[in-house]
Amino acid sequence: MLILGIESSCDETGVALVDASGGHTPRLLGDALHSQIEMHRAYGGVVPELASRDHIRRVLPLTDAVLAQAGLPLSAVDAVAYTRGPGLAGALLVGSGVACALGFALGKPVIGVHHLEGHLLSPFLSADPPEFPFVALLVSGGHSQLMRVDGVGRYTLLGETIDDAAGEAFDKSAKLLGLGYPGGPALARLAQQGDAQAFKFPRPLLHSGDLDFSFAGLKTAVLTQVKRLAHASLDGPATLHLADPLTPQQKADVAASVQAAIVEVLVKKSMAAVRQTGLRRLVVAGGVGANTLLREQLGAACAKAGVRVHYPELHLCTDNGAMIALAGGMRVQAGLVRLDWADGAEGNGYSFDVKPRWPLSDLGLSEPAGAR
Ligand code: KG4
Ligand code: ZN
Repeated sequence: MLILGIESSCDETGVALVDASGGHTPRLLGDALHSQIEMHRAYGGVVPELASRDHIRRVLPLTDAVLAQAGLPLSAVDAVAYTRGPGLAGALLVGSGVACALGFALGKPVIGVHHLEGHLLSPFLSADPPEFPFVALLVSGGHSQLMRVDGVGRYTLLGETIDDAAGEAFDKSAKLLGLGYPGGPALARLAQQGDAQAFKFPRPLLHSGDLDFSFAGLKTAVLTQVKRLAHASLDGPATLHLADPLTPQQKADVAASVQAAIVEVLVKKSMAAVRQTGLRRLVVAGGVGANTLLREQLGAACAKAGVRVHYPELHLCTDNGAMIALAGGMRVQAGLVRLDWADGAEGNGYSFDVKPRWPLSDLGLSEPAGAR
């Protein structure tokens, strides 16, 4: 069973082909990605309209590249999975439209996939795939969640951010330091030269007793610190970036201190989730999962606690088509999606909508009654 996956929820066009035959863990046969980072950099962030137009330009050439890698014709595809949400509406519409058009042309079914389920399952494509059940720490640009995962589609929310996501905290702090977009990797790079003890930034909700996160206060603390160091005020000259008066060492120290605060909260809450659930496996997914310090500190904490920790391959941490093809394939294998509906050739199944805001609860996530 060959599943073509298309991801277009934000600033990456990803296409991949996965073999999800039988009951075994799906195998990646081809994978191609185009990142729009260079295009958006000039604007300091993602411009939705430009993102949509670029997805249109990239998606079919990437599909050709994936099929060439796999050495297979388009007609070999058994189903087309696409990101239905959450994400930018216009960007999602491109992937959904192309997936449904391909499905209709081939007479094959399409599968709308939740982007976060893709991230969550992405470690199954790694050389060291996890086994159910496990605790998942999902940390992306828009989400920070801890989940108990008992199987495909069997997710229990344990805790989540009450305001900003961890990736947002990285991105906003990076912006305050004048590091531009995308902020997370830039801040992590600069932090390598800094002293993580230099500034004591808040660790919100660290001792709250629950598994929720809060990162919004961090950017205010960073702003206050940068202002203090710069002796500047926000209404200073427009051409001057707030962080310009800082020395390179001061910037690196702020970066290292912010990263340490975010990582400490993520590690402590993840270990608390492991303790609470009694599970012995932890899966880390989403863009922030690429952070080296997070991997080091989680690795150390898990080793101490006798817990196995699994990550997606580094290139599958951020958005990609492979995780969408994989999630589509695993949903079929789990019996959550039927593939026989396209046979009637009525075409109704190809009408599509996207879900820019798509609560995980709509996916069949359960929350334990009275747990939060
Ligand atoms: O999962 P992802 O690619 O997209 C979303 O679904 O949001 O995550 C993107 C987020 C951004 O906030 C980015 O700054 C962050 O992941 N990120 C990192 C690193 N690489 C990506 N944050 C910290 N350190 C990194 N190395
Ligand atoms: Zn993502």
